[in-house]
Amino acid sequence: MIEKPFIYYKDTLNLTAMEEAYLTNNEYKDFFINLNGLRKFVASKIPLENKMRILDLAIGSGYFAMEVAEKFPEIFIEGVDISTDSLEEARRNIWDKGLRARIALKKMDSTRLEYPSQAFHGAVNFLGLEDIHMTRGYEGVRKTFHEISRVIKSRGYFSFTIMPPEETETEAQRLECEVFDYICGAKWLTALQYQELLKESGLNLVKRELFKTRKKLTVEQAKQEIQFACKEVPRIYNIQTKSFDKVWENFGSKIEKHGLGHYSRLVLMLARKR
Ligand SMILES: C[S@@+](CC[C@H](N)C(=O)[O-])C[C@H]1O[C@@H](n2cnc3c(N)ncnc32)[C@H](O)[C@@H]1O
Repeated sequence: MIEKPFIYYKDTLNLTAMEEAYLTNNEYKDFFINLNGLRKFVASKIPLENKMRILDLAIGSGYFAMEVAEKFPEIFIEGVDISTDSLEEARRNIWDKGLRARIALKKMDSTRLEYPSQAFHGAVNFLGLEDIHMTRGYEGVRKTFHEISRVIKSRGYFSFTIMPPEETETEAQRLECEVFDYICGAKWLTALQYQELLKESGLNLVKRELFKTRKKLTVEQAKQEIQFACKEVPRIYNIQTKSFDKVWENFGSKIEKHGLGHYSRLVLMLARKR
């Protein structure tokens, strides 16, 4: 499928189609919080309506849910996550934005949703399927798709944003996928695998769209991200990671040469329940 990507920074960077620029340290500080407007843009692409009750799986710190809630002032979102740390941070962010009446939070495993069938008009997930792979493996991602299909109403939408490794276009993007899979099993499946999971769960893919930030991490920024994962994943999820030294031994020289992708190329998939 030929896609015309929505490219951030297109007008401000003098880059050829395949190039990416390093984030400045100032940009890096809070880059993940809004990915330079990417969440807002993705939220605007999802066919949701006010009054709907939507499930946000792996809500993390709540950034995507807040974009959806701000775009649709009468929508109600229920956000679930397996991590108490993430939910605490989401709670703080949601309260700060004055959205606590419209975004509820629950500690829950996406592979076993404690909701009756057809409880939601739709579901969203913005990044996180790689983390569900980290905590529950391929079978967990598969169960998650079946659970989503069960809890949304017939003709309801499920949108999810991913980084299919086989579609990466730059070394930095390839490295991002390989490095976090290596550290802790935070693995992205191929686009085809996600499509197969949709199909077997009773969901039809209706649209996909490509987004690029055209930004990547410097060596020092990459080290910070890797150190964070090596330290926090065992603490939060009780999952053993590779040591930082081992990661650097394997990937350091490539990162020094190419930089490390940082959500640089994302694909939105929109599916609809049959
Ligand atoms: C990258 S964050 C999500 C980002 C967020 N959606 C946003 O807009 O920035 C991924 C989240 O997945 C959560 N997670 C991992 N395994 C999970 C599981 N089995 N069930 C629910 N959440 C899970 C993690 O705790 C983490 O908070």
